[in-house]
Amino acid sequence: MLPKWFDDWNSSNPTNIFGPAILVGAAGGAVFVAAMLVAFGQPYATESQQTGPRGTGMHVQEFAMNLAAGDPTVADFYTDEPFVPEPGEALAGDIYENVQVLGGLTDANFNRLMNAMTLWVAPDEGCTYCHAGAAEGNYADDDLYTKVVARGMIQMTQSVNENWDAHVNANAQVGVTCYTCHRGQNVPNNIWYRVSPVNSNVAGWSANQNRVTMVSNYTSLPSDYLETYLMADANGDYARIGVHDLESRVQQQPGDPLIQQTERTFAFMNYFANSLGVNCVFCHNSRAFYDPGQVTPQWATASMGILMVQEMIAEHLLPLQDVYPAERLGPVYGDAPLAACRTCHQGYQQPLQGLNVIANWPELATTSGEPDYSAFQ
Ligand code: HEC
Ligand code: HEC
Ligand code: HEC
Ligand code: HEC
Repeated sequence: MLPKWFDDWNSSNPTNIFGPAILVGAAGGAVFVAAMLVAFGQPYATESQQTGPRGTGMHVQEFAMNLAAGDPTVADFYTDEPFVPEPGEALAGDIYENVQVLGGLTDANFNRLMNAMTLWVAPDEGCTYCHAGAAEGNYADDDLYTKVVARGMIQMTQSVNENWDAHVNANAQVGVTCYTCHRGQNVPNNIWYRVSPVNSNVAGWSANQNRVTMVSNYTSLPSDYLETYLMADANGDYARIGVHDLESRVQQQPGDPLIQQTERTFAFMNYFANSLGVNCVFCHNSRAFYDPGQVTPQWATASMGILMVQEMIAEHLLPLQDVYPAERLGPVYGDAPLAACRTCHQGYQQPLQGLNVIANWPELATTSGEPDYSAFQ
């Protein structure tokens, strides 16, 4: 109960107390947030990596929070040091019945690699994922398609490590194993199939655009850029990616790129940026996309990457087409599942954040059949 004089005074002097209360509340809230930022740091703080000369604005920005979190699959990478072969030790090619690629390995290293392949590709299924008769000790039969695919994958991995050193060891030894793509799964993330033309009812420039597809990164850009640039045409040629110069395009000259080609190049470049978690200036000075004199060293690594993926597809992945069962083939053409930049990179500048995965696996670093164990002697 308040005194009567106060009630009288109060009713004759009505005051809006909400305004000041909101003001005090907002000011208090701001002080609280500021105190929290000082105490715990700015959650949206960024860090930037300078990629070009000072003053050109060539920076790749990332949230400090994301950088600190890192790639969770790095911790699950399985690795194991090789057994240095003794002179005269028996080789897998002599011990086993049906070893076509790994014949030059000693028994200990052969089994070490089988064990690792199991943990990298089929940790839940175990040896039976590729060897139906594992329980009865039958490992020689090629009755499962997974074993035949795996043999092709071993050859692809060896060839990438040996022949594309300038890409997969560009900065330091990193290399590629099954885990780079598979990450403990039978089917890697970010595989792709041919989709073009998505809409055959449209003449001319078909609706490769304006389709919500994963390859278009859910934009209205064309969805067919991977097959256009990474797969050879009937003559074995690859489509030209370059579209940019300083000529006016007001009057289309013969041989000038069309707007559609420009869109496809842009879609491909978006794919690069998304695959590596970077922006365009990681590789280009964006004032002159056409000028090879203003690119960064990463541009050269990326160019090697394009050639490497073209070769992986033509020589290793497409030839497996007939081996896969129907449920693994593409929805439109029944074609073989393919890999590209994102299958290895998975959103990072270097796959597995530059972890040296090849150090312990000389067996996967050469196609010669004679792994080099000198680093372990
Ligand atoms: C991802 C598929 C895959 C998994 C999983 C796998 N292997 Fe193999 N295995 C192969 C391939 C491919 C070959 C043939 C290699 C070659 O031709 O050089 C092979 C061959 C073999 C052979 C030689 C058989 C012979 O007589 O020719 C043995 C033994 C073997 N594996 C054991 C194992 C064991 C033990 C495991 C489980 C720890 C295992 N493998 C898991 C793919 C696999
Ligand atoms: C450059 C990426 C890449 C690397 C490296 C790689 N693979 Fe694959 N692998 C693929 C792709 C793409 C497929 C097709 C996915 C599918 O089957 O739908 C595949 C499929 C497979 C399959 C068939 C799986 C299934 O269930 O259909 C097996 C088995 C396999 N790989 C084993 C291996 C082994 C063993 C290695 C290492 C020696 C390896 N892969 C390295 C990309 C890769
Ligand atoms: C990982 C490196 C990388 C990233 C990131 C990248 N590019 Fe590229 N870009 C290249 C390479 C390599 C080529 C040359 C391809 C060829 O012609 O073989 C190229 C070519 C181009 C071209 C054609 C240049 C010409 O000569 O006509 C344009 C335009 C382009 N990029 C724009 C972009 C844009 C826009 C982005 C950002 C969305 C981007 N790029 C991101 C590596 C990259
Ligand atoms: C078979 C797996 C694989 C594929 C496919 C692949 N890369 Fe890479 N890439 C790597 C590895 C491993 C490295 C790390 C090399 C190092 O840091 O020494 C790398 C490094 C790079 C770098 C240098 C990054 C840096 O920090 O300097 C660029 C740029 C790059 N890749 C672009 C691409 C592009 C573009 C594609 C597709 C056309 C592609 N890569 C496809 C495995 C792959």
